[in-house]
Amino acid sequence: MLIKDRKFVRLLEQPEIEKALRRLARKINADYRDKNPLIVAVLNGSFIFAADLMRLLGKNFRISFVKISSYEELESTGNIKQLIGLNENIFKQDVLILEDIVDTGKTMEKMLDKLTELGPASVEIVTLLRKDKHDALKDRIKYTGFQIEDRFVVGYGLDYDGYGRNLKEIYQLK
Ligand code: IMP
Ligand code: MG
Repeated sequence: MLIKDRKFVRLLEQPEIEKALRRLARKINADYRDKNPLIVAVLNGSFIFAADLMRLLGKNFRISFVKISSYEELESTGNIKQLIGLNENIFKQDVLILEDIVDTGKTMEKMLDKLTELGPASVEIVTLLRKDKHDALKDRIKYTGFQIEDRFVVGYGLDYDGYGRNLKEIYQLK
């Protein structure tokens, strides 16, 4: 399938994704049965995953959406990342970070740093997809939908230059 200017092939079909979500939801519901967790979903990529997973979770779950903005700081050479949109007080709260995909793990590391500073009772990570080439986060991700090879993917919320987010299946760069 052509998306913008590149050819993609199907990697995961709708029923497989649904099945993975049911499996994740079963575990998460069981683990948080007696808690009132706050899901912190990272925009934009996680919006479809978040909407579908949220509807499989119990009434004790809340959700909030955040964004990671990166901008070049004038004085330094580093790329500073900022967490925007977290309006909830997460002090002593059980937090579940929700991501579409963990690639290098840099985004998740930053999220963990920022959220941990705010004194939550617990922080766990749930990601739909995972490209396993990072070590730091290996044992830190508690809930994974699919482990995939290191190829660019689109669909089900994930984009290629803004396109492909509304595809119901997940495609991989050919
Ligand atoms: P990181 O390398 O783990 O920090 O991933 C950063 C972000 O890059 C993810 O949250 C995704 O939004 C995006 N990303 C990584 N790999 C892919 C991909 O294969 N397709 C689309 N977006 C991706
Ligand atoms: Mg993302």
